[in-house]
Amino acid sequence: MSQEKIIQFLKEAESYISGEEMSDQLRISRAAVWKYIDQLRHDGYEIAAVPHLGYKLESAPDKLLPYEISFGLGTKTIGRNIVSLDTVGSTMDEAFALGMKAAPEGTVVCAESQSKGRGRLGRGWVSPKGKGLYFSLILRPKFAPSQMAQLTLMTAVVLSEALENSAGVKTAIKWPNDLLSGGRKLAGVLTELRAEMDQVKFVVIGIGVNINASAGQLVPEATSLKIETGRSFNRVALLQEILRGMESWYEILNRGGFAPVLEEWKKRCGTLKKRVRVADAAGTVEGVAFDLDSDGGLLIRQDSGVVIKKMAGDILQLR
Ligand code: BTN
Repeated sequence: MSQEKIIQFLKEAESYISGEEMSDQLRISRAAVWKYIDQLRHDGYEIAAVPHLGYKLESAPDKLLPYEISFGLGTKTIGRNIVSLDTVGSTMDEAFALGMKAAPEGTVVCAESQSKGRGRLGRGWVSPKGKGLYFSLILRPKFAPSQMAQLTLMTAVVLSEALENSAGVKTAIKWPNDLLSGGRKLAGVLTELRAEMDQVKFVVIGIGVNINASAGQLVPEATSLKIETGRSFNRVALLQEILRGMESWYEILNRGGFAPVLEEWKKRCGTLKKRVRVADAAGTVEGVAFDLDSDGGLLIRQDSGVVIKKMAGDILQLR
């Protein structure tokens, strides 16, 4: 906590801030202040120290550290507890374990890289170190498992808005929640849940966004913000925008507002009116995806005129 406060003092100070002032305000010894400064330097912060003047923050590391993410975040629930990891198998597993240990709603588990990042339908998620956002968010909605599609579609809306507002990149949502730019995948969402007696205990929403990766670091079907724009982006700023978006859309959803989510999703979607082929355990369906049902299912009109609804599946957009 004091470490977070110290970084806050350093960020808010116009110039140098003395060790004495920080120790007075935090009611800790000067030696303790020094210890925290040393720890921050170890984390990659560059902090100048000048006798009689004090400390000055020169630069922050390009890392997803809790103090960076929470500074200026301004949310109430989403991101109130942040766990930052270096390399993990998958943030999904880390978040799931925390969910089982009663971690509060809004807990975010992020990593610099994943060795076993996973995507939907048993696929992987390539997670080059420090080049993207790989995080999982724990929610404890008062939903039935059948309402999970609402969260999935909501997250796609949040990502599409955040990518447009923070990076100026317009995306097309491929049902249910892939974010495409120029036909390639920029971001994806994986939702896993723990339910008992038809009641959701907690949900883990995993989000992967390719940010500063080059083409050689990703699979051929993927793209990144850097590839799309030629520019590098600050990962923390984008993460904050996503967390703020999650908070405001989740509030809307909790007030019973799935209709506005659907409306926004449809505006940002690239699947509707296209010919598609969807495969799931029940088989393969081909036809024109003409609408979303009120529960988020994809409505497909087959050539025979028969309409089929799919709640999940592997989709191919044909034309
Ligand atoms: C998909 O589009 O198939 C979903 C991709 C989800 C990737 C994210 S990265 C953070 C979290 N941890 C994982 O292992 N997967 C999700």
